[in-house]
Amino acid sequence: MHVKSLETLRWIGDTQGWLRMIDQTRLPTEFVEIDCRDVEDVWEAIKSLRVRGAPAIGIAAAYGVVLGLQAPAGESQERFFQRLDEVVARLASSRPTAVNLFWALDRMKKAGLGLRGRASPGEILAALLAEARSIHEEDRRMCRAIGRHGATLLADGQGVLTHCNAGGLATADYGTALAVVFAAVEAGKRIHVYADETRPLLQGARLTAWELVQRGIDVTLLCDSMAGQVMREGRVQAVLVGADRIAANGDTANKIGTYSLAVLAHAHGIPFYVAAPSSTFDLSLPNGDAIPIEQRDPREVTHGFGRQTAPDGVKVYNPAFDVTPARLIHAIICEHGILKPPLVPPSGGRRGEPSIERTV
Ligand code: MRU
Repeated sequence: MHVKSLETLRWIGDTQGWLRMIDQTRLPTEFVEIDCRDVEDVWEAIKSLRVRGAPAIGIAAAYGVVLGLQAPAGESQERFFQRLDEVVARLASSRPTAVNLFWALDRMKKAGLGLRGRASPGEILAALLAEARSIHEEDRRMCRAIGRHGATLLADGQGVLTHCNAGGLATADYGTALAVVFAAVEAGKRIHVYADETRPLLQGARLTAWELVQRGIDVTLLCDSMAGQVMREGRVQAVLVGADRIAANGDTANKIGTYSLAVLAHAHGIPFYVAAPSSTFDLSLPNGDAIPIEQRDPREVTHGFGRQTAPDGVKVYNPAFDVTPARLIHAIICEHGILKPPLVPPSGGRRGEPSIERTV
């Protein structure tokens, strides 16, 4: 079986072009593409989750830098680089947890600064568009490689539980956690996916279920609170999730609810896998305690999708992500291979040093 590709994001035109993306807030009932023509459009799209998922946020931000530098002709180098700083700072303020955003913005900034004094603003803008396109294309390749490596972990006939959406919509086109499922299915294995609904914004129900149905993959939707029972009934042989940021010791931030799933998987003796490209690793952080966790609007909990479901004035806590400790993770699948325990640094490991051993 061949799994259809998705164009989550695409750049239209040349340096004076614009970014077109699937508006993920409209799925699953409407497939609508929107055009972002300036930095504010991209900032708003990231903030309001029109584009979401760590790799896709990074790609969108990279193109956002190009949009922010489409200057009137004849602008001075000094003003151009001042604007580069402003645009990068603005996009960096959109969401705090997915490190891919900062990774992509750093790359864009370095690509621009590397040409300072050696090229005109127009030439630098062309180089920045080329860099954004490379980030986009590299993500495509990394996700395919993640799929190839990860598919070896799944056997024919298995049930796989996933959380949030780590599919094509969250990346250039093929996903991370779902890439593993896609590659296994493409290799002829029969895989049954259980997709967690993923409260409060329902990325699992709205996006993962949609992608899998579109792609003809066997999927059953669950409320988040059903995962324990489904594991107890023996329906799940692996849990597979994406990541927003992986610290040097393997602690992993992902959509809120991931940590609970890891604990449940541990209690049932089910392997818990994280799939993520190297752009999601933040080796400057020794462990997950240092990962910034996004807090979102309480109304996402009390007024989800337009209907009030809690009393006026109730206090709400709405962290968008949680951190799963490395000791609960059986393996991290990245484009280089499968990283297996010990994910925890050996004693004496230095702060910020890469400590995850590559085993494949
Ligand atoms: O708030 P979101 O929808 O951006 O959260 C997305 C996730 O948590 C994904 O699992 C993660 O970004 C990995 S996407 C390949």
